[in-house]
Amino acid sequence: MNEPVSLATTMRTHLCGELRESHVGTRVRLGGWVHRRRNLGGLVFVDLRDRFGLVQVSFNPASATGEAMQVAEQLTSEAVVLIEGCVVARPPEGRNAELATGAIEVLAETVKVVGPATTPAIPVARGKGEKLAAEELRLKHRILDLRRSELQANLVMRHRLLQRARKALSDEGFLEVETPILTKPTPEGARDYLVPSRVHPGEFYALPQSPQIYKQLLMVAGFDRYFQIARCFRDEDLRADRQPEFTQIDIEASFVAPDDVQRFVERVLVELWGEAGHDISAPFPRLAWRDAMERFGVDKPDLRFGVEIADVSQAVGEDAAPFIREALGAGGRLRALSVPGAAEASRKEIDGYAAIVKEAKAGGLIWARRTGSGWEGQGVRALGNELLGRLVAKPGELVLAVVGPDHVTSPALHGVRSLAVRRPGIVRLTDHAFCWIVDFPLFETDPVTGIRAFAHHPFTSPHPDDRDRLTTDPDRCRALHYDAVYNGNELGSGSIRITDPAMQAVVFELLGIEAQDQQRRFGFLLDALASGAPPHGGFALGFDRIVMLLAQAPSLRDVIAFPKTTAARALFEGAPTPVSAADLEALHLRSLA
Ligand code: AMO
Repeated sequence: MNEPVSLATTMRTHLCGELRESHVGTRVRLGGWVHRRRNLGGLVFVDLRDRFGLVQVSFNPASATGEAMQVAEQLTSEAVVLIEGCVVARPPEGRNAELATGAIEVLAETVKVVGPATTPAIPVARGKGEKLAAEELRLKHRILDLRRSELQANLVMRHRLLQRARKALSDEGFLEVETPILTKPTPEGARDYLVPSRVHPGEFYALPQSPQIYKQLLMVAGFDRYFQIARCFRDEDLRADRQPEFTQIDIEASFVAPDDVQRFVERVLVELWGEAGHDISAPFPRLAWRDAMERFGVDKPDLRFGVEIADVSQAVGEDAAPFIREALGAGGRLRALSVPGAAEASRKEIDGYAAIVKEAKAGGLIWARRTGSGWEGQGVRALGNELLGRLVAKPGELVLAVVGPDHVTSPALHGVRSLAVRRPGIVRLTDHAFCWIVDFPLFETDPVTGIRAFAHHPFTSPHPDDRDRLTTDPDRCRALHYDAVYNGNELGSGSIRITDPAMQAVVFELLGIEAQDQQRRFGFLLDALASGAPPHGGFALGFDRIVMLLAQAPSLRDVIAFPKTTAARALFEGAPTPVSAADLEALHLRSLA
């Protein structure tokens, strides 16, 4: 690992992992953890570990003091020791090509245990192929797990990415400004974490779901370009790519159009991917939300692959099954994917697609395989000869179709596509498929409850071409909202903001926030917008998610030093915890639990 600075201190001259053949003959003092120890009848070998790697330290009576031999023989795993000795070349047969320090070893003279260790609850040193302990157990013993080289590498990468982002934004004239953690609620679609005020009985702060309102206020205050590595808190159901507290690279800029913001974000992403060793280029392609939903069934399409959804409703003939014709009659559509090479798919694979479709609450998967001689499969009768005759499918393709309203067929076929593109024969067009999804709808209406909610957040500006629709047909009003998507992952979201207080009030109203409530919750923002607000817009990148993708880690928990479980618990330190009745009383609270 390249370290530009020397980390020598009064206690150590070198780092374990930095020693090479060029150090042969050098006297060194090292500090580190006992990774492994082997006693070979009068000789003791210790693998000593620090953040930079491992080095072999050997103890033999010819060079080590008698006391050092005694201590070395008793060393336990994970104890912290200081050793002093001389770097020597290993004999050719003793070299370890898998270790960066494998050409040398340190011939120890003295050793001192400065941090004795109890028997580790989970192993830090693992044998080849030895599995990791269960994740719960590793989270419970987080500091031991954090000693693993994989997690250390992830956090080192996190640090490097953060420095690179800071520099890129600073170079573009963005100022790093910290915004409060004890705040007034900022709606981002999740529940707030609330903090009771002791000095104001019955009143609460909210932890920020994002710095959204504050960054807009900074624009009104004239700071022009802001960024923050912002910690955000959201009380929502957790998944592998969500944590209750997470970090955003949050930006806002004045006098900008969407293209300007997208250019800033592209610069940051090109730098971050570059830092991780990937040469990517900008600008990224732009795809309208409606087209993304039509072609991929999702607003974060994985464009590494070309397999696309087609609407085949128009090709449905008189001989199609009644359930298909009835669904079309009720306003639904028949949509299908044609997967190259998948005609040979096993029953088990097709059952896998059918299970995804069921989970999306669609009626069922309809499938047919195109062979050299015609069509085969469960769906041949249902789809009917007329439709099959009109389908452009090559022999070897498997057609997977779903009928129903879009809010059912889109997630069903997105799920099917996500699985199908993992087939070995599917062509991968690129390793890094970035795109912008633009022209999102301003509102989302729940198909079941009919309740209207904001698609991004209530401060997003309507699309200028759709402003009239805001009052006449709000559900068809597009927004100046854009997402950055990478290989099927949403990296971040942003928009141009509403700066006209009257329009902001209309949007609040459409979201069911009455005038009085608007004043109580957002009066300070409405007043600020009326005090001379420049046009402005911004973006937030989910930083943990980016580190996870670049580190190829399976979970956000692998790139956050002290993460929460999916049940929002911190297992190592034990949070949350009950508090005493006296503490609650001081906060004017009583627990109902
Ligand atoms: P949004 O809510 O889309 O936008 O968040 C931006 C990005 O933050 C990441 N993210 C999360 N990462 C981990 N755990 C979570 N629970 C979590 N929630 C969100 C995602 C997401 O794309 N204020 C707006 C931005 C703006 O308009 O400027 C906002 O917060 O990667």
